[in-house]
Amino acid sequence: GERLDFRASKQRLLVVANRLPVSAVRHGEDSWQLEMSVGGLVTALLGVKEFDTRWIGWAGVNVPDEIGQKALAKALDEKLMQRCIPVFLDEEVVHQYYNGYCNNILWPLFHYIGLPQEDRLATTRSFQSQFDAYKKANQLFADVVNEHYEEGDVVWCHDYHLMFLPKCLKERNSKMKVGWFLHTPFPSSEIHRMLPSRLELLRSVLAADLVGFHTYDYARHFVSACTRILGLEGTPEGVEDQGKLTRIAAFPVGIDSERFIKALELPEVQDHMKVLKQRFAGRKVMLGVDRLDMIKGIPQKILAFEKFLEENPNWCNKVVLLQIAVPTRTDVPEYQKLTSQVHEIVGRINGRFGSLTAVPIHHLDRSLDFHELCALYAVTDVALVTSLRDGMNLVSYEYVACQESKKGVLILSEFAGAAQSLGAGAILVNPWNVTEVASSIGYALNMPADEREKRHHHNFKHVISHTAQEWAATFVSELNVTIVEAQLRTRQ
Ligand code: ADP
Ligand code: F6P
Repeated sequence: GERLDFRASKQRLLVVANRLPVSAVRHGEDSWQLEMSVGGLVTALLGVKEFDTRWIGWAGVNVPDEIGQKALAKALDEKLMQRCIPVFLDEEVVHQYYNGYCNNILWPLFHYIGLPQEDRLATTRSFQSQFDAYKKANQLFADVVNEHYEEGDVVWCHDYHLMFLPKCLKERNSKMKVGWFLHTPFPSSEIHRMLPSRLELLRSVLAADLVGFHTYDYARHFVSACTRILGLEGTPEGVEDQGKLTRIAAFPVGIDSERFIKALELPEVQDHMKVLKQRFAGRKVMLGVDRLDMIKGIPQKILAFEKFLEENPNWCNKVVLLQIAVPTRTDVPEYQKLTSQVHEIVGRINGRFGSLTAVPIHHLDRSLDFHELCALYAVTDVALVTSLRDGMNLVSYEYVACQESKKGVLILSEFAGAAQSLGAGAILVNPWNVTEVASSIGYALNMPADEREKRHHHNFKHVISHTAQEWAATFVSELNVTIVEAQLRTRQ
């Protein structure tokens, strides 16, 4: 039938995500510094401009007293175009909900790493209390949504942190339009069924009107989990439970490509580019930009680079790998282990292949500001994305957006959602196969200009036409249509 288009009017949109686009860091009593948050979700949602948006999320800091909470809420409200509304979680909840259930259980499971193996019994014992904290945190998010909700608003819940939220919201107000989108992969139902809380989470997500994923595969996995684990009926539209249809579909995210392309013209970005070009003159530069996360395959990437150097000694002084890895979730033990593992490998390789004047790997444990990042994307010859699993991977999109003049090569893991959209232009690799990645590095460094141009052109076309704006507009429009259709069905 005819598609209804709700894009013309500025609709009020309540975005609910664990993280706000800025996170507060305490600087003395009742004074905070607001820092930009890092991650694909923030990057995508900051690109969304055509709605009248309120963004509800965790303040990122523990503020126990009400006066402090009010002061921080005011500072957040004034900070950005999209108005930010903080949810306050106390330390114990953060520990059990964010460090525990979200990032020690759901995150590794959804990325096929499995449930924590060490000290199995302790994990099993703490599981229930972490899940309770997860539900409690989701209820707190629901409280804040309710407080700010106005009739007609669209509520868009995001990510694995808030799988319990659609149910909480619908229980309080069944008329609320609720969408839920997952920024990570949704795993095979055989993996999902390992979760002790598998039923509750699926049922809660199904309370939403529209459920979205980055790829068809993730959507299909979710539908199979509902049919196999809950015994519900899957339809081409989604999943049906006692006459209620939950629509399930793929909405691949993108970036605000124009923001990157325009930034390259700025004098400060041009200055950074000049400095970088001088610094690495005479050498090819390979780039990795990741949160320091086990899913990003950083050790595998560095080991592949080592193998390349081992097999191609003539390249040793002619190529450098810049790995910019911003620390993330540093209170979770797995992440602490990863940091020391990466440092150890980098140290060993630099010791082995470095000289008095140059080292093959520059590894930074920090985030770069937007201008530095754009400059790096623009001047480097090859980007290496070796995720072991990754919902989409927007770093690959950002690299392509900044490469119009240089036409650099993207080496991309086939386990990133982006492999499905940038696969034709990138060199796809299995990051577990170090030999394959090493030879792809050689192939990329030696690629003739015409092949680089062709590959880049293919990807660039995709990146500029599948933007974050388009992603959000399509999701919200689909959510509106779904609700109108459901109303028509119940009237029949
Ligand atoms: P994820 O959501 O898992 O972090 P994505 O690749 O989709 O992965 O998104 C990462 C986002 O975070 C990108 O917008 C990227 O620019 C930003 N980012 C990641 N690492 C850094 C870093 N070291 N410095 C600055 N920005 C970073
Ligand atoms: O999709 C990846 C993601 O989980 C996003 O939800 C989030 O923006 C990002 O990782 C950063 O993680 P955190 O909020 O835990 O720092």
